[in-house]
Amino acid sequence: MLTAYDFSMAKILDKAGIDVILVGDSASNVMAGHKTTLPITLNEMIYHASSVMRGVSRALVVVDLPFGTYQGNSIEALHSAIRIMKEAGANAIKIEGGEEIMESVKRILSAGIPVMGHLGLTPQSIHKFGTYVVRATENDEADKLVKDAHLLQEAGCFGIVLEKIPAKLGKRVAAEMKIPCIGIGAGSEVDGQVLVLHDMLGITTKFSPRFLRRYHNLSEEIKGSVGAYIDDVRSQSFPSEREQY
Ligand code: KIV
Repeated sequence: MLTAYDFSMAKILDKAGIDVILVGDSASNVMAGHKTTLPITLNEMIYHASSVMRGVSRALVVVDLPFGTYQGNSIEALHSAIRIMKEAGANAIKIEGGEEIMESVKRILSAGIPVMGHLGLTPQSIHKFGTYVVRATENDEADKLVKDAHLLQEAGCFGIVLEKIPAKLGKRVAAEMKIPCIGIGAGSEVDGQVLVLHDMLGITTKFSPRFLRRYHNLSEEIKGSVGAYIDDVRSQSFPSEREQY
């Protein structure tokens, strides 16, 4: 599973054989330049999700419900999820949290909308946590996470993202769950992995958590190409005879 937020990237990921594309609210960071995932709106998520859907012919597309569109009001949560399914044509939604959002999860599921959970580091709660450090290192928080995972599974969620938790806990949750647990910084003994595309391609450069493997240094490659283009235009070697009419 990888994130995508636009048509062109989604098309490449789909063709490359990715199983699941997540239109994550990390779009708030990597596409819009916000410091957190909180500012992105439902309309913006629908815009990103619609663009992705136009590029995908086989992968499952899961879309994040953004902050403020499902917490505390399950009717609003259902309306938000319906908008994503209806206006973007997505396949499923993802939602952060456990027990505290269970009413919203159940109401969305009751409308026939597939729901993926998200536990551990839930970036929409950054102001509660105060930092992005690894979660559930203490027994109390780990026990709550396990309980929440069971609640999500029993409610009918089809999968759970586990973010930035000890590998031992990732293994335990994945072993206890019948539904797939997809990790990001949750160790290797879960059922699948997810990364933010811009991070794994090296488009972003400052974000370097331990769980991130960079497969490319695209930021440098793009800088090199743009620099070469600037040089060619200034020296008038572009366009050449063959590149004009
Ligand atoms: O928004 C996102 O990209 C996510 C992933 C980090 C799992 O939720």
